[in-house]
Amino acid sequence: MRMSLDFKIIFFTACIALYVSGVAYFYFEHFVRVATDFGSDQSPYQALILHLHGMVGLVFLSLFGYLWATHIRPGLRGRARKTSGLTMLVAVLVLCLTVPGLYYLGSEKLRAIFSNLHTYLGLAAIVPFVVHYVKRARRVASAS
Ligand code: HEM
Ligand code: HEM
Repeated sequence: MRMSLDFKIIFFTACIALYVSGVAYFYFEHFVRVATDFGSDQSPYQALILHLHGMVGLVFLSLFGYLWATHIRPGLRGRARKTSGLTMLVAVLVLCLTVPGLYYLGSEKLRAIFSNLHTYLGLAAIVPFVVHYVKRARRVASAS
């Protein structure tokens, strides 16, 4: 249930990289345009950031497999932090399920729905993560 320090460092690094690259892509998509000979266009860094995000997503998912076996499944048997934990679990599942839509959907309309779902759910996922984490910190603080 309790995470080892080694795993915590690796997992937090992956979560931060995933979140920061997602936010960075969102920022570039909505707020950054560069002038080219053919008018204004996306920054060349935008595609790079998205590729990085996709790669970190794969790392995150392999770590998530370990988290599932060592933290989530045992956690589901108890009641502590269940609401925030389950909220994150559902968020991760939906984030994963929307990814094939980003790659393979032909219809622009459907792709936009999947893209918005992935993007805004991803941005919002920090809320249950902080709640889940801070609750633990509070319990530790009140025990001391
Ligand atoms: C995406 C899913 C989840 C993630 C990313 C996650 C992440 C975390 C993290 C980072 C901590 C702090 C660990 C530490 O500082 O040692 C934690 C603690 C905890 N989580 Fe989760 N969690 C998830 C799902 C769940 C679920 C589904 C439950 C229970 C139903 C749960 C129950 C707990 C409990 C009880 C603690 C406190 C453990 C302790 O300090 O002994 N978690 N979680
Ligand atoms: C389980 C976690 C996640 C996985 C596995 C994942 C994976 C991916 C993948 C594979 C792509 C497509 C990359 C490409 O086309 O090269 C993508 C796109 C994107 N992701 Fe994530 N991601 C996750 C979480 C997040 C989070 C937390 C955020 C926000 C902070 C986020 C924001 C975005 C955005 C803005 C896009 C671009 C959407 C579009 O193409 O319109 N993702 N993600």
